[in-house]
Amino acid sequence: MEPPATAPPVEYHPSQSYRIALIPGDNIGPEVTAEARKVLEAAARRFGLLLAFETFPWGAQHYLDTGAVMPEDGLERLRRFDAIYLGAMGDPARLPDRVLSWGFTQRVRKRFRQYVNLRPVRLWPGVRSPLAAPGEIDLVVVRENAEGEYTNIGGALYMEQPEELAIQTSVYTRQGIERVVRYAFDLARRRRRHVTSISKANALPFGMALWDRIFAEVAERYPDVETRRLNVDAAAMFLIHRPSEVDVLVCANLFGDILSDEAAAIAGGIGLAPGANINPEGDYPSMFEPIHGSAPDIAGRGMANPIAAVLAAALLLRHLGATAADTRTTHAAQAIEAAVGAVLRRGAVRTPDLGGHSTTREVGDAICAALAG
Ligand code: NAI
Ligand code: MG
Repeated sequence: MEPPATAPPVEYHPSQSYRIALIPGDNIGPEVTAEARKVLEAAARRFGLLLAFETFPWGAQHYLDTGAVMPEDGLERLRRFDAIYLGAMGDPARLPDRVLSWGFTQRVRKRFRQYVNLRPVRLWPGVRSPLAAPGEIDLVVVRENAEGEYTNIGGALYMEQPEELAIQTSVYTRQGIERVVRYAFDLARRRRRHVTSISKANALPFGMALWDRIFAEVAERYPDVETRRLNVDAAAMFLIHRPSEVDVLVCANLFGDILSDEAAAIAGGIGLAPGANINPEGDYPSMFEPIHGSAPDIAGRGMANPIAAVLAAALLLRHLGATAADTRTTHAAQAIEAAVGAVLRRGAVRTPDLGGHSTTREVGDAICAALAG
């Protein structure tokens, strides 16, 4: 990520307004979404942005009340927004996770061609890594977000019988790999010009061999960007031993899901890690969310760290700023990141996952105060 910028003078143009769909979801989802919204509103005031929010009550409770994760026209309604903000969905004590995952998150990602899942991970000054000598960590996981292992293709036979079997098929396409790998290289050009590709062609000789071949093809078109190829098991170690040597890391869906949680853990935990589901062409709204789930174990106690959610809101503004070539929105995103950095550096206000005693709301308030200058 770029270094935080100092605030430019506010310019008031007859402003374009952005429409944002808010889906707080379940458990800590609404708790962290409330803080993200508060910070977005503070940034909007400071930079003269017009943000129009509409909140949708979708999630476990809605499903239990209505029998549907969202209304039939849910996707059509979301389509009209400039961006979608998701807290987190999931209430495993009352509903199998797959109902919401496949009924909402995966559906939105696939229908809106959000084929890039972007997960920036940074060890913020003032945050302690569980590693003894982490060095500087500033990397981005670019996870393929439409195919791979998360296609829901397969089936089960003889369910709950002694001979039961399950088949879960992975799907890799030339187009699907190429577009996400190109995105990773373009991103690397705006960063430290290094891409690490993750695969496992020795054990998965069809899908991952295709991945490796297409990665090599695309790499040839970016001679100014350095590359490294790692098997996923070696990558899991590399992230522990040499995280500062990773800039952009590109991988298939499942590997990215796992490695991004690991990367977040070495940089202070998933309470700090934002994510974005991007439709790079801008044909559909992109969706922004913390990478963590709904954390039922800490819900309702004011303990959730809202920073991942706040940084996801900053990614949202950064995306809108880039898509609409609107520098105020980009500056607002940078100011939110700088405010988060200031709060983490001072260290006085932190949630228990970072060793503090503050509440979710106190952290949100501290970020808003830092944002106000
Ligand atoms: P999780 O991310 O919700 O929790 C894992 C661990 O991290 C827990 O100990 C939790 O307390 C902690 N944690 C998570 N977010 C935190 C935060 N902001 N501050 C402090 N601690 C935090 O993952 P888990 O337990 O596997 O899943 C719980 C539910 O969330 C499930 O229903 C799952 O399906 C759902 N889920 C939803 C996602 C989404 O909506 N995008 C993504 C991942 C999981
Ligand atoms: Mg995950």
